[in-house]
Amino acid sequence: MIRSAVTGVGSALPKRVMPNEEFESKIDTTSEWIEQRTGIKQRYIAGEGETSASLGEAAARAALDNAGLTPDDIDVIICATSTPDNTFPATAVNIQNRLGMRHGLAFDVQAVCTGFVYATTTADLYIRGGMAKRILVIGAETFSRLLDWEDRTTCVLFGDGAGAVVLEAVEGVGLTSDRGILAAHLRSDGSHKEKLYVDGGPSTTGSVGHLRMVGREVFKHAVGMITDVIEDSFETAGITGEQIDWFVPHQANRRIIDASAKKLGIPADKVVITVDKHGNTSAASVPLALSVAVADGRIKKGDLVLLEAMGGGFTWGAVLLRW
Ligand code: ACO
Repeated sequence: MIRSAVTGVGSALPKRVMPNEEFESKIDTTSEWIEQRTGIKQRYIAGEGETSASLGEAAARAALDNAGLTPDDIDVIICATSTPDNTFPATAVNIQNRLGMRHGLAFDVQAVCTGFVYATTTADLYIRGGMAKRILVIGAETFSRLLDWEDRTTCVLFGDGAGAVVLEAVEGVGLTSDRGILAAHLRSDGSHKEKLYVDGGPSTTGSVGHLRMVGREVFKHAVGMITDVIEDSFETAGITGEQIDWFVPHQANRRIIDASAKKLGIPADKVVITVDKHGNTSAASVPLALSVAVADGRIKKGDLVLLEAMGGGFTWGAVLLRW
């Protein structure tokens, strides 16, 4: 049986770090409020010349290096982003060009904060369907450019960055014993649009627009939706929360992460947290967190790793894999 396994991981962050304290002179907030309600202490903000494609390219190169591969070895690039450099061409095609690739195919996936989980699931299907052997899956975002910097309820929450993985075809046998993706479940429900959306777009206002969110409403749904879809993945693979070696959740809010882990029976010391340093980087948050936990030696070969995200739409999903 063909499975897809992560063989390389990389990330990239903008140069500028913006600590919570910087907001105190700009809007009616305090550093303590932000940290207590969200767990965020700082975020990275893209400067001149730093874009979703440039950060995505840097993360992709790091993931290729980590896998010991070059762009020549890649068949497909899938980039998850809601902040493309241009409305079109796709950011994935832009990155393909930046990598000097003239072969294969590249396309974007748009599922907001769940984008990387959607893109990874899509890549897994390409590999298991025999259409590709090696795929670069990238999450790249510059949400700072969608924010209304006068809206204290949203501008403190987000940051910029990119993360990438190389997914490769491997031979697998049993559901819980082998390397690679063991289960993936995706969901969406457009009736929640008004709770988290961008108030512009090419087909409506003709402008980019700003992110709008009813945070309390998002919070109310988050834990239930996240844990439901994870439980589906546990059922497919026949495992329980206690068996997870590393939980790598979407990094939106520390309280959502802690409550989800508790409900799933995943011990707190098995949860990878980067929201304190990166803020919410939307589709980049899961691969950024993965990168950190691989680089510092926490995630090792053979570990059972659970990825999860939820975002605008709503969209939500989970991927369970053996590292
Ligand atoms: N500084 C100070 N006060 C603030 C700030 C701020 N930056 N932002 C809001 N407040 C105020 C509100 O105006 C409100 O005041 P009021 O009671 O006078 O009306 C008060 O703080 C409490 O507001 P709540 O929205 O109830 O605060 P809550 O504890 O829910 O925290 C937060 C807000 C952090 C946005 C939370 O609801 C949240 O994290 N929601 C999830 C949203 C999210 O993470 N979205 C990301 C995308 S979706 C996803 O990734 C899951």
